[in-house]
Amino acid sequence: MASVPSLASTVQQRLADAFSATLPEAGSADPLLRRSDRADFQANGILALAKKLKGNPRELAAKVVEAIGPNDVLKEIEVSGPGFLNITLTDEAIVKTLAARAADDRLGVPFAENPGTTVIDYAQPNVAKEMHVGHLRSAVIGAAMVEILEFTGEQVVRRHHIGDWGTQYGMLIQYLIEHPHELDHEGGEVSGEEAMSSLDRIYKASRAVFDSDEEFKARARDRVVALQSGDPETRALWQRFVDESKIYFYSVFNKLDMEIRDPDIVGESGYNDMLEETCRLLEESGVAVRSEGALCVFFDDVKGPDGNPTPLIVKKSNGGYGYAATDLSAIRDRVQNLKANTLIYVVDARQSLHFKMVFETARRAGWLNDEVKAVQLAFGTVLGKDGKPFKTRAGETVRLVDLLDEAIERATAVVREKNNEKVALSEQEIVENGVQIGIGAVKYADLSTSAARDYKFDLDQMVSLNGDTSVYLQYAYARIQSILRLRGEAQPVAHPELELTSAERALGLHVDRFGETLTDVASTYEPHKLAAYLYQLASLFTTFYAECPVLKADTPAQVENRLLLCDITARTLHQGMALLGIRTPDRL
Ligand code: ARG
Repeated sequence: MASVPSLASTVQQRLADAFSATLPEAGSADPLLRRSDRADFQANGILALAKKLKGNPRELAAKVVEAIGPNDVLKEIEVSGPGFLNITLTDEAIVKTLAARAADDRLGVPFAENPGTTVIDYAQPNVAKEMHVGHLRSAVIGAAMVEILEFTGEQVVRRHHIGDWGTQYGMLIQYLIEHPHELDHEGGEVSGEEAMSSLDRIYKASRAVFDSDEEFKARARDRVVALQSGDPETRALWQRFVDESKIYFYSVFNKLDMEIRDPDIVGESGYNDMLEETCRLLEESGVAVRSEGALCVFFDDVKGPDGNPTPLIVKKSNGGYGYAATDLSAIRDRVQNLKANTLIYVVDARQSLHFKMVFETARRAGWLNDEVKAVQLAFGTVLGKDGKPFKTRAGETVRLVDLLDEAIERATAVVREKNNEKVALSEQEIVENGVQIGIGAVKYADLSTSAARDYKFDLDQMVSLNGDTSVYLQYAYARIQSILRLRGEAQPVAHPELELTSAERALGLHVDRFGETLTDVASTYEPHKLAAYLYQLASLFTTFYAECPVLKADTPAQVENRLLLCDITARTLHQGMALLGIRTPDRL
């Protein structure tokens, strides 16, 4: 495995060398390379340099161009405007770089120079409750960030901070004590669907009693105390709710084609033993203060509508701990025990104020600092076609499973319709592809808009063959596979001596940007940039394929070169889609 320098970094290096050769007094000036429509790249660094050296930029530029001279990488450097350099690469450099990438399992993508440890908090549904589209977003975006960071060599710890603690368990457990057979199932294995439906039944029934029966309410409250103090019988019943919910969660994650590992599920309850100490530390250091009986942290810039400061409540006046205490304890655990340098929280933007206050509190307490940072990868709301938060007609939350089933159904119809004598998919393949395309469509729709934005959940658009959809990418991939299948097993040989067409160059240059795209996504936590990269890759391939015959190219050498482009494009698509959690079927 060898990493391959990108063409951009090679050009950058050559220019920097030429800068210091012609103008030693320039020091290590940055050539400021960027992509360009007029040539392959444009470098603007001469302008700043000329200012610094009080020289004429166009003259300096001419000197630099002369110093570089004709060579195997830079075909043409043209001075333009006030002193920009327009740079065109040789076809030889492009083909050689692609061949080097093709020879590497990782497509030549380097590992990060200074990897650290990142804890990602994502896919965190709540016990005894249905999963909804918000949980989908967290799971899909989080899983993509896990894969992308791991690919760059980062040590990643996954944490599923499920909602498995709090006062509502008093009500649920007490109800189960009084109706002991409600969670029993007849016979063998329980499906996710069955698990959820009995949980839902108990939830609704217990809530009804809780709201109407004062005595039950009191018993439920006592049950909370018993749970928090670790009473064994109460804990055992609580565990039944958690286990039952996990059956359901796993069934949904499985449908989502997502691997969730049991040891990574550390819910709110997992920090119970730390809560008291967290509060003590905050109080002793003066970060938190007593106010109206509660332990609170105040912020100058967080005020309620009445103008009074809204504190973060770490411990309620009745002695109970809430969401904030758990999250602060989780930070201590992740920083001190898991040795994280970065904490990422993939959570709904509507919880941004909570995280702002929690992170600031942790900074004041010294748990977060310059070496250890926390970020919320905040995502927007999923909207229905009407532009309002996604709800059923009756105003209820849409069940995630129903959406996924519908996506699979639509995608299967698309595959069936597109099937023809040439591809000749069997019924089994149609069904399998329908699943991979349907789930891919849902994930891609989520990942292709910037996380912070709201987006419309529109299945018709998601499974459309035209436009920025996963189906489009999957078809591009399958098309390449069908070409490569005709070619047989042997790896195509590169022919750097051949001239490239403009479609070949554009595709080749874009393939070369894969590593840079990943580096960018890994540091900005913006997976939509990877989706955009892949969409452009598929579009450039479509143009190439329309303009350049592959197997029927003019000469055997050109066939080889084009097969190389096909091969590396397919592998880049496959790798990129895999990082997004999306499958690429070979035959479609
Ligand atoms: N369970 C929460 C919800 O459904 C999300 C948990 C987010 N993570 C955290 N560390 N607070 O909204």
